[in-house]
Amino acid sequence: MKILGIESTCDETGAAVVENGTKVLANSLATSALEHARFGGVVPEVAAREQVKVLVPTLASAVKDVNFDSIDAIAVSYGPGLIGSLLVGVESAKALALAWEKPLIPVNHLVGHIYSNWLEAKRLPQFPLIGLVVSGGHTDLVYMRNSRDFNLIGSTLDDAAGEAFDKVARYLGLPYPGGPQIEKAAIGFCGVAGKNPFPVSMAGKDNSDFSFSGIKTAVVRYVEKNHLKLTNNYISMVAFYFENAVVDSIASRVKKSATSYKVRSLVIGGGVAANKRLRRALLRVASETKTEVYFPKIGFSVDNGAMIAAAAFFAGKPVDPLTIQADSGLHFD
Ligand code: KG4
Ligand code: ZN
Repeated sequence: MKILGIESTCDETGAAVVENGTKVLANSLATSALEHARFGGVVPEVAAREQVKVLVPTLASAVKDVNFDSIDAIAVSYGPGLIGSLLVGVESAKALALAWEKPLIPVNHLVGHIYSNWLEAKRLPQFPLIGLVVSGGHTDLVYMRNSRDFNLIGSTLDDAAGEAFDKVARYLGLPYPGGPQIEKAAIGFCGVAGKNPFPVSMAGKDNSDFSFSGIKTAVVRYVEKNHLKLTNNYISMVAFYFENAVVDSIASRVKKSATSYKVRSLVIGGGVAANKRLRRALLRVASETKTEVYFPKIGFSVDNGAMIAAAAFFAGKPVDPLTIQADSGLHFD
C-alpha cells in the first residue's frame, strides 16, 4: 500500500510517498528555519506564510516520479502544531483527496514522530513500548500497548527540551537552531567535569513530567553571578553542563517509565533525538532496563512527510475529508 504523507505543523514542509509504512519511495522536505534564525525561534506568522509558498512545490517534487494511480491514500498531520501552518497542509490534503478521489487519513504529529522509527528500519520496535518525542515544540512520553493504543504519560510543564536548547543557545550568542550549536560547543569543553551547577529538573519527583525552564534560568543566574565573559571556553563549559542536565533529566524519566510499564522497546523521535549525548544516555537506560532503544534514521528525526505516511499505515484510518480539522492542541483522540 502506497501512502502520500503531508506534514506542515511548524516550520518544516514535508511530502513523501511510503510503501507499507516502511519503504520511502519519495521524500521531499523544505524548511523555513533560516527565516526564523534572526528571531531566535519560530515566528508563527512567518512559518505559515512560508508553508503557503512551499507546500505545492514540495508536493509536486514528491509525486513527480510516482505513478499517480499507484497512490492508495493520502495522510496529513492534523496537529498538534501552529494553527496557521497546520491549516495549509490540512486544507491542501482535503482538496487533493476530494479531487483525486483517494481516502484521507488524519495523523497526530506525535504519533508520526514515533513511527519515524519504522522508516527504512532493519529491526522494527516491539510492543509494548515507551515513545519519547523530544523536539522544539514537545517533550512527551507515550505508553503504547499496541500499534494503535496511545497513552500520554508525561509532558513538559513549561519549555520543550529543544526550546530550552534554542533559548540557552541564544543567550550564549549562538545561532538558531540552538541544539546542534550547544552540542558542538559542549564537545569543546576540555575541563575536568565536576558537580553540575545546573539542576537536573524534576529528578526524584514521583511523576513522568518534565520541566526545563529552571535549568535555563539557572544558566542565566550562573553566568551573571560569576561575571562570566562569554568567551569560547566559558560557552563550552556552560553548554556542557546544560546539555548534561537536560539529558540526565530526560534519561531519568525514560528509565522510570520503562521500569514501571515493563516495556520491550524505547522509541525516540523529534529533532533533539539527533543529540549524541542523549543517544548514549538512552542506550545506557536500555541496557539497565533490558529494553531495546530505537532512533530514527538520519533525516527522519526532524519533521517530515514520510513519518506521517508510516503512522497512517500502522495506526490510522480514513475519515470523511470534510470532517478533518486542523487542531493545535495536544491530545490523542
Ligand atoms: O522535530 P524538530 O525538527 O521540529 C519541531 O520542533 O517540531 O526539532 C527541532 C528542535 C530544535 O529546538 C533544535 O534546536 C533541536 O530540535 N535539535 C537539537 C539537535 N538537533 C536539533 N537539540 C539538541 N541536540 C541536537 N543535536
Ligand atoms: Zn515535530
